[in-house]
Amino acid sequence: MKTKSVFICQECGYNSAKWIGRCPECQSWDSLVEEIKRESNVKGRGFLLEIASKPQKLAEISMSGELRIKTNISELDHVLGGGIVKGSVLLFGGAPGIGKSTLLLQACTALSKQRKKVLYISAEESAQQTKMRAERLGNISDDFYIVCETNLDIILKHINEIAPEFIVADSVQVLYLEDISSAAGSVSQVRECASRLTILAKNRGISVFLVGHVTKEGSLAGPRVLEHLVDTVLYFEGETQTNFRILRAVKNRFGSTNEIGIFEMTSCGLKQVENPSQMFLTERPQKTAGSSVTATMEGTRPLLVEIQALVSPTSFGLPRRRTTGVDFNRTALLTAVLEKRAHYALATQDIFLNVAGGVKIVEPAADLAAVAAIASSFKEVCISEKDVIFGEVGLGGEIRAVSHAELRIREAKKMGFTRIILPKNNLRILEKNSKIKEVALIGVESVCQALEVIFG
Ligand code: TYD
Ligand code: MG
Repeated sequence: MKTKSVFICQECGYNSAKWIGRCPECQSWDSLVEEIKRESNVKGRGFLLEIASKPQKLAEISMSGELRIKTNISELDHVLGGGIVKGSVLLFGGAPGIGKSTLLLQACTALSKQRKKVLYISAEESAQQTKMRAERLGNISDDFYIVCETNLDIILKHINEIAPEFIVADSVQVLYLEDISSAAGSVSQVRECASRLTILAKNRGISVFLVGHVTKEGSLAGPRVLEHLVDTVLYFEGETQTNFRILRAVKNRFGSTNEIGIFEMTSCGLKQVENPSQMFLTERPQKTAGSSVTATMEGTRPLLVEIQALVSPTSFGLPRRRTTGVDFNRTALLTAVLEKRAHYALATQDIFLNVAGGVKIVEPAADLAAVAAIASSFKEVCISEKDVIFGEVGLGGEIRAVSHAELRIREAKKMGFTRIILPKNNLRILEKNSKIKEVALIGVESVCQALEVIFG
């Protein structure tokens, strides 16, 4: 088979023999991507091809053997939806130095201990370097193979020989195929290498982890080319300066994408965090205005996080608004509600809102806590340390019910909070269905009422 490359516009499909900066067809900039064109040696006789696959009845497909394999790193299994599915391909992304290699080495060590054959393709570090690290992370078993190679054809031969059950390609961006002329790391190389490994995975039932670096723009190198190819996309996030790492599934054909796993980087590798709420609250300042605690849901797990606000008079020009961890537009909306419904003069104030610990909150249940934090900083009055606040805020200043209220309350209770301010409608349902003792539940209907309760 001969391979030839063409440049195809990702917007309109225009193709060109050489790269051009602007598509002559649809005029979009920088949209041409190199792709491999295959010239098959059977031409026009497709219907005469020998048939290798055969349609089967779905009902009759046998489900023999264990389909999911647990790594015994519970946070990783949790994010994957209960373990690694046999024959699945996972893309593991994250900034350099975040701990991708560390986590996968730990996973490989754990898997090889269960007498599963593992092949670790270390394309960036030497075998000695990897061993040094692996030894620090745990005992190495006999079923752990490592190869330092970047030529995929040779790697495929090794895979044939060793017949592993798991493969880690660290990283997919340095692998290359000789029959593609472009450099390793280019879109066509990355895509072709990944697709060959994917075919292998599906045919032989091998689970493959592809490690991918994230580019400056935040996407996995090779503009998202791999995301549709693989079964699961995991991102490892966190600040390299802090020790906390969050593992998130952005795509998962075999599980929920809402789950996160929380890890802490220690001197002997990544440790699972048993009690994330406690971790996010330990550094909470005492008796400081502008700090509130809310209960947010990360997948099926409640998590208590601190929301911090700083409100100070604008000294020059337009008031500044900055947010980290919460949606900027949502914050603008909450500020407007606070101004209009509770008559806070925020038009001449700079507002900074931050979720402590690098957590990102996407659900509106944190609205009320954000409003409370802003109000607290503006008034310079502290919110009680024993309060947890949650509820969605509507444009009319009304507080709307949120999901999983009971789970949130239980988590708050577990962490020793004694008073919970929640939407009245949630409280009504809770009072009917369950008995929660030892915490004061206060249902509120409007922002004004909530602020009255919070600030006494
Ligand atoms: P690494 O897994 O090499 O990151 P990636 O593969 O995502 O680029 O992790 C590198 C960082 O992790 C490095 O800065 C040091 C730190 N680290 C520890 O703190 N403890 C450990 O036991 C290990 C192995 C690494
Ligand atoms: Mg690495």
